[in-house]
Amino acid sequence: MSTTIPAKAKELRSLVKSDGTLTLSIENLEVPTPKAHEVIVKIEATAINPSDVAVIIGFSSLGIPSVFGTNDAPKNPVQIPAAYLPAYKGRFGMSLPAGNEGAGTVIAAGADAQHLLGKVVALFGGNTFAQYRCVPAMSCMPMNEGTTPREAAAACVNPLTVLGMVETMKMENHTAMINTAAASNLGQMLVKVCQDDNIPLVNIVRKEAQVDLLKSIGAKYICNSSSPTFMKDLIAAVSETGATLGFDAIGGGDMVDKLLSAMEISEQKKATTYSRYGSVTHKQVYIYGGLSQTPTTLKRSYGMYWSVGGWLITPIIQKVGQEKFAQMRKRVADEIKTTFKSEFYKEISLDDAILPDTVCAYSKQESGKKYLVNPFK
Ligand SMILES: NC(=O)c1ccc[n+]([C@@H]2O[C@H](COP(=O)([O-])OP(=O)(O)OC[C@H]3O[C@@H](n4cnc5c(N)ncnc54)[C@H](OP(=O)(O)O)[C@@H]3O)[C@@H](O)[C@H]2O)c1
Repeated sequence: MSTTIPAKAKELRSLVKSDGTLTLSIENLEVPTPKAHEVIVKIEATAINPSDVAVIIGFSSLGIPSVFGTNDAPKNPVQIPAAYLPAYKGRFGMSLPAGNEGAGTVIAAGADAQHLLGKVVALFGGNTFAQYRCVPAMSCMPMNEGTTPREAAAACVNPLTVLGMVETMKMENHTAMINTAAASNLGQMLVKVCQDDNIPLVNIVRKEAQVDLLKSIGAKYICNSSSPTFMKDLIAAVSETGATLGFDAIGGGDMVDKLLSAMEISEQKKATTYSRYGSVTHKQVYIYGGLSQTPTTLKRSYGMYWSVGGWLITPIIQKVGQEKFAQMRKRVADEIKTTFKSEFYKEISLDDAILPDTVCAYSKQESGKKYLVNPFK
């Protein structure tokens, strides 16, 4: 391969200072020479995920025109409202790169990584809002022949998370699951995986259009949290599936409480004796996102056999081990055009990604509005 590697290339940075200002910039930074175990990936397509919004601007609720201005009257740096500022303390003064995943072509490789040269690969955790990344060959997920970088742009975060949820369910001896904010890009993938793997899945959405969307891809159990019959519907679905594991992307509010209540009520229906400590079946809810940043409220009306915890894909990958992880990556590569296909709402450039109107738009994290960054646009 004879692609020239430029000395410097564009990269998105986010800087919060102790005076409470947030500056978004596109820097021209040095592209390193790869060491023996490393490769240079020309990043051609990268998805903006909720976890990226958390790095670029911090809180998604900050992404409103009164803070960022508009393209005609931009504010950059912006002033972070005082109420939010304590949460930024740990990153004061750091110019942070962003981009949890992306895909592109390997244009240079160290001596031990020559097998990747010229291949389309997806990257996980690679600070991908940049034109080039120098990463260990191990961090690359080689895609199958015929897969484009655009198709692989979101091949890591959501697909591996979905497969990690299924592994968690198996490792913790549950047989069915509940997922919230289920019309998300991730939620739709989970519907397809659970269908293929015969896993009963209860999907919680908040709009009727989302019910229709999930029905159209074959979801069986869908509960709309805006419906007056939501709790009744949820209890019926949980009772039928026997779900004792919930994944909650919302985090804030009382959704976790509702999931645990529905699980307990459905377990109580099977009980033959009364215990004031509730059913002895362990009920677990993992909070895996922060779509709502309000406090999580628990009324604890579900006995004593339950827990709520945080959940992240990275430690799960370590937990499942190398062999299982390799199988997960292969499944994603093989099914990237079907099960793990992502639809993108808009393709933008790195420069666009820091414009006020665009920041405010992608911060909303709405269904069907995933943005794709093309660093060479
Ligand atoms: N822990 C992990 O390892 C991990 C890994 C990957 C993803 N995640 C999480 O998975 C979630 C989905 O990611 P994605 O990329 O698939 O998102 P996405 O496609 O951008 O979709 C976001 C979804 O969230 C809904 N939503 C937004 N705010 C909400 C709220 N306050 N209450 C209820 N629903 C809300 C949206 O519905 P509307 O259209 O109704 O707004 C939309 O359906 C995110 O929370 C992300 O952080 C976690």
